[in-house]
Amino acid sequence: MSAYVLAHSESPDQVMAALIAETAQLPEVNMQIGPDQAAFMTLLARSLNARRAIEVGTFTGLSALAVARALPEDGSLLCLDINAEWTAIGRRYWELAGVSDRIELRIGPAGQTLAALPEEPTYDFAFVDADKTGYAGYVAALHPRMQSNGLVLLDNMLRGGRVLGGAETSADDEAVIALNDELVADSRWETVLLPVADGLTLLRKR
Ligand SMILES: C[S@@+](CC[C@H](N)C(=O)[O-])C[C@H]1O[C@@H](n2cnc3c(N)ncnc32)[C@H](O)[C@@H]1O
Repeated sequence: MSAYVLAHSESPDQVMAALIAETAQLPEVNMQIGPDQAAFMTLLARSLNARRAIEVGTFTGLSALAVARALPEDGSLLCLDINAEWTAIGRRYWELAGVSDRIELRIGPAGQTLAALPEEPTYDFAFVDADKTGYAGYVAALHPRMQSNGLVLLDNMLRGGRVLGGAETSADDEAVIALNDELVADSRWETVLLPVADGLTLLRKR
């Protein structure tokens, strides 16, 4: 099914394909979002006319590239990650794609970086794809930073189906299960959990 989905979605361009190929050499390659999700995120950010975006969890920069290229020339994307080595790979490809001037990367624990952000300006698009036990804190910290109507995307919200129970779960799985329950009951967000990739939750700030 995934080959069919890929064959009928926007294909990665040369720069994105090269980034995917280089990341495939890393043992951590599974952390990267799929090219179909990248295409979806570009389309979404572009159709929302996103201008100011933020990302928690950048790795080698594929999701950042997908979002940055959807932004207008004067748009901006703030990327948060703890790993300078992986994100340095991303920087090279952002440069090649001509979007590096729109991206600012801050290295450090995302919880601390988010807590230190000024009240203004606010964001209209956010993507969270880092340590799962940190998600609840990231969502809480992002809420006041998002514009009304702003969209937050949370990755891996189905945890390979383990959210359904009946399988052995990790601390990461349990954190996501608790957060899924919390979010659907939180009236400050309009919440939709899509069975895209490993589960992509869309939160619209009311
Ligand atoms: C699943 S990967 C992100 C994949 C990326 N979105 C992509 O498209 O390739 C998770 C990233 O979160 C980062 N990370 C883990 N814990 C973090 C923390 N506490 N603060 C910031 N980044 C963190 C890791 O260094 C890693 O690069």
